[in-house]
Amino acid sequence: MLHSANENDHSGFAINLRRPTLSDGAGLWHLTRDTGVLDVNSSYQYLLWCRDFAETSVVGVTEEQQLMGFVTGFLRPDEPTTLMVWQVAVDRAARGRGLASRMLDYLVETTGVKHLETTVTDDNAASQQLFASLAQRHEAEHNVTPLFTPEMYPDEHETEYLHRIGPLVPELVRQRRRKTPQLTVVN
Ligand SMILES: CC(C)(COP(=O)(O)OP(=O)(O)OC[C@H]1O[C@@H](n2cnc3c(N)ncnc32)[C@H](O)[C@@H]1OP(=O)(O)O)[C@@H](O)C(=O)NCCC(=O)NCCS
Repeated sequence: MLHSANENDHSGFAINLRRPTLSDGAGLWHLTRDTGVLDVNSSYQYLLWCRDFAETSVVGVTEEQQLMGFVTGFLRPDEPTTLMVWQVAVDRAARGRGLASRMLDYLVETTGVKHLETTVTDDNAASQQLFASLAQRHEAEHNVTPLFTPEMYPDEHETEYLHRIGPLVPELVRQRRRKTPQLTVVN
């Protein structure tokens, strides 16, 4: 079953999901830096993202608006039914309780995209499981191919593997399909 935007995650504090606003920009930069594994982009970039790509991004915040996680994404200009997920980060205090999965489900449902893409390096087991699990939950295909290989970079960088998940269908449609009796052909 998919996760909802306002469920309590049983961690002792409720985390609500919403679109980012400009006031979240600094927090996105801090959280990215604190993961210790993600590429830290300029603080300007996170502010710009909160202004221009809020509709394809999401933040998870406590009642006091403390940032606990985020997903930044955009619709690919040459394929606007595909959501490219750029960065996903969850505060260490909130990890392992389904927050990243909830945020991705929120984006899939609110954007109504047919495919979701992201890139992951070989050594990021958490991220690989996060997207494998999403594909399973949405009963969608999940293809992995190398996208950006080390020789393409001007600096040192591991291969980024493209994860493409889809076709995605809205949860209500999937529920209806499950309830509709399948036609059985008897030879
Ligand atoms: C990757 C990250 C976003 C996951 O956040 P999270 O809220 O803990 O993830 P969830 O609780 O939704 O877990 C999703 C799935 O991944 C699995 N998972 C989570 N952490 C894991 C880990 N360290 N190792 C292996 N699997 C892990 C969960 O068991 C779950 O699988 P399931 O649905 O089959 O049970 C978080 O660990 C993080 O911020 N890491 C640093 C930044 C990063 O690597 N971002 C991803 C690349 S853009």
